[in-house]
Amino acid sequence: MSTQQHLIAPSVLAADFANLQRDVQMVNESEADWFHIDIMDGVFVPNISFGFPVMNAIAKHAKKPLDVHLMIVDPDRYLKVCKDNGAEIITVHYEACTHLHRTLAAIKELGCKAGVALNPHTPVSLLKDVIQDIDLVCLMSVNPGFGGQKFIERTYSKIKELRALAADQNTDVLIEIDGGVGTSNAGKLLAAGADVLVAGSFVFSSENPMQTIKDLKAVDPTVQLV
Ligand code: DX5
Ligand code: ZN
Repeated sequence: MSTQQHLIAPSVLAADFANLQRDVQMVNESEADWFHIDIMDGVFVPNISFGFPVMNAIAKHAKKPLDVHLMIVDPDRYLKVCKDNGAEIITVHYEACTHLHRTLAAIKELGCKAGVALNPHTPVSLLKDVIQDIDLVCLMSVNPGFGGQKFIERTYSKIKELRALAADQNTDVLIEIDGGVGTSNAGKLLAAGADVLVAGSFVFSSENPMQTIKDLKAVDPTVQLV
C-alpha cells in the first residue's frame, strides 16, 4: 500500500450531461483529485459514451487533471487528439493493444502519464514485462462499458498480486479501481493496496455528491481492517 493519501476520481459518465458545467464545477469545488473520463467506441465495449469534443468542453472548465480511460480498439490512433483535448493521464486497455510497449512510449512522448487497464478476466501477471513502463494500472472491477454495475470481489486479490509484482521489480505504480466502488468497499480496497478510487453512480446518484466525495476521501483503511 502506498503511504500517500488515496485519490478520488469521480467518473463523469454518471454526471448529468444536460448540466455538465454544473457537475464539473461541483467536482472542482469538492475534495476530488481527478476527473475520470470514460471514452467508449461501441466496438471494444458494447456502449458508446461521448467523444473528444465533449471531453474538450469538460477540460475548459475542469480545474483538476483529466484521467482518460480509453475503452476503444487501436487507441494509438487517438492518443494525440486525446492529449490535445486536455488529457493528463491516458489509460489504454491491455486487451486492445497489440504493441502495448510501443503505445505506452507514445503516451509518454506526448508528455502524459501512461495507464493500462485490465478487464476482470485479464491476469495481473501479464504485465510482468511491461510494469516498469506503466505509471498507473486500472483494475476493472466490473466489465467495462456501463456505470452502475456490481463490484467483482476477485479484485481484492488482484490488487495484492499487482502490488507484489511491482514491489518485486522495485517499481511503483498507482493502482486505480474502476467499477462498483462506494464507501462499503473503499476501505477494503485501500487496505489491499489501491491508490485511486473511481466512482460514478455512487457519487452522482447520491443526494449530496460533494459530501459523498468527501466521505470517500475520508475512508480510513486501517479502521476498516478491525
Ligand atoms: C465502466 C467505466 C467506469 C464507470 C464506473 O466501463 O469505466 O468508469 O463510470 O461507474 P460506477 O462507479 O457507477 O460503477
Ligand atoms: Zn472508467
